[in-house]
Amino acid sequence: LFTAVEMAPRDPILGLSEQFNADTRADKVNLGVGVYFDAHGKLPLLECVQAAEKNLMRAPSARGYLPIDGIAAYDQAVRGLVFGADSEPVQSGRVATVQAIGGTGGLKIGADFLKKLSPDARVLISDPSWENHRALFTQAGFAVGSYTYYDAAKRGLNIEALLADLNAAAPGSIVVLHACCHNPTGCDLGSAQWDQVIAVLQARGLTLFLDMAYQGFGQGIAEDGAVIGKCVAAGLNFLVSTSFSKNLSLYGERVGSLSVLCADKQEASRVLSQLKIVIRANYSTPPTHGGAVVAAVLNDPGLRALWEKELTHMRTRIQAVRQQLVDGLKAAGVQQDMGFIARQIGMFSYSGLSREQMLRLRNEFGVYGTDTGRMCVAALNDRNMGYVCRAIAQVL
Ligand code: LMR
Repeated sequence: LFTAVEMAPRDPILGLSEQFNADTRADKVNLGVGVYFDAHGKLPLLECVQAAEKNLMRAPSARGYLPIDGIAAYDQAVRGLVFGADSEPVQSGRVATVQAIGGTGGLKIGADFLKKLSPDARVLISDPSWENHRALFTQAGFAVGSYTYYDAAKRGLNIEALLADLNAAAPGSIVVLHACCHNPTGCDLGSAQWDQVIAVLQARGLTLFLDMAYQGFGQGIAEDGAVIGKCVAAGLNFLVSTSFSKNLSLYGERVGSLSVLCADKQEASRVLSQLKIVIRANYSTPPTHGGAVVAAVLNDPGLRALWEKELTHMRTRIQAVRQQLVDGLKAAGVQQDMGFIARQIGMFSYSGLSREQMLRLRNEFGVYGTDTGRMCVAALNDRNMGYVCRAIAQVL
C-alpha cells in the first residue's frame, strides 16, 4: 500500500527548526520560526500565565470533554478581546466564536466551513504570505490565488496593485488579510489604506477572512485590532482567526479561536452549529488546559493588566532589537541602508536577502531564516547579535 508514497519536502518553517535542532554548531541561531525569545535567549513563561496556573491548581479540575466549541468563558473573553466586550456585535449576540487548536486551527475550521458554503470560491492570499496559508486553504479543497501586497524595490506596501487585484477578483472570492504584523513582510496597511481595502471588499462582494495571529506585537492590543472595528462599522460580515501562541507565549498549548461576525443572533447560532459539525469531524473537542489558562488571565482584571504589561515589554524589546540590528549591520560593514528593518512591524524582518544568501547563512554560519529572506528578529539578543550581523555582512 505504501510503496509508492513519496518523501514530502520539509515544512518551509517548522522544517527549519528540525534542521536547526540537528545542527551541532555551538553558535547556531534560529531566526526561522516566529517565536519570541527574551533578552537572555529564553522562551518566556509569562508571569500572568504562571499566576493563572497556580490559581487553577489550587482547585484542580477533572479533565472531562469540553463542549465542541470550547470553554464558554474562553469564547466570551476572546469575543471581548477581538470585538470589544461592550461592542454592538458582542452585545447583540451576532458573533459566533469557537475555541480552536491555535490560530492555524481557527483558519482551518473557517476554511472547512467556507468550503461547504462556497465550494467554488477562489481564495486569495497576499503575495507574499505566511507559507501555511496556501497549504491550508489548498488542503481544504480551494483553488488558491494571490493578490499583490509588497513592493520589494520600495520595501513597502504596493497599495495600488493590491486594490487593483482585489477590484479584479470575482465576486464571492475569499480574501485572507493579515490584521496586523504582516507575516512575512512586517509591513502593515495604514488606517486610510484599510478603509480603501474595505470599500473594495464591500463593492466587489468579497468575503473577508482576517488572520490576527500577532495582536499586541505591532502597536498594542487595541491599535492592532482596530481593523475589526472598521470592518464592523462598514457593515461587513467576516471571519477572524486569532492566536495566543505569540502574545501569551503559549505556543505549545495550541490555543486560538475562530469568530464569525453574522448579520444577527439567529444567523450566528446557525453558523455556530455548522462550525461545531466541522470541529466534531476533525478533532471532536478542544483540549482543556490552554483555554482554561487564557480564560483565567483575560477574565481577571489583575492578571489581564499584568499580561498587557508583559506584552508591552515583549513588543518594545523587539523594537529596540530592530534598531540594534540596523546599527550592528552598519558596524559589521554593510554599506547599503538597512534602516527599513527598524520600520517593519511585528516579529519578522523581511530582509530582502536572496534564497542563495539565506542558504549561505544557514550552511556556512548556522544562522537559520526562511528561504524567502524572512528572519525572526524576536530571537536576537546581545549574545547572538554581533555574530548574526557579521554573518549577514559576509553573505551580502
Ligand atoms: C511562523 O510564521 O513562523 C509562525 O507562525 C509559526 C508557524 O506555525 O509557522
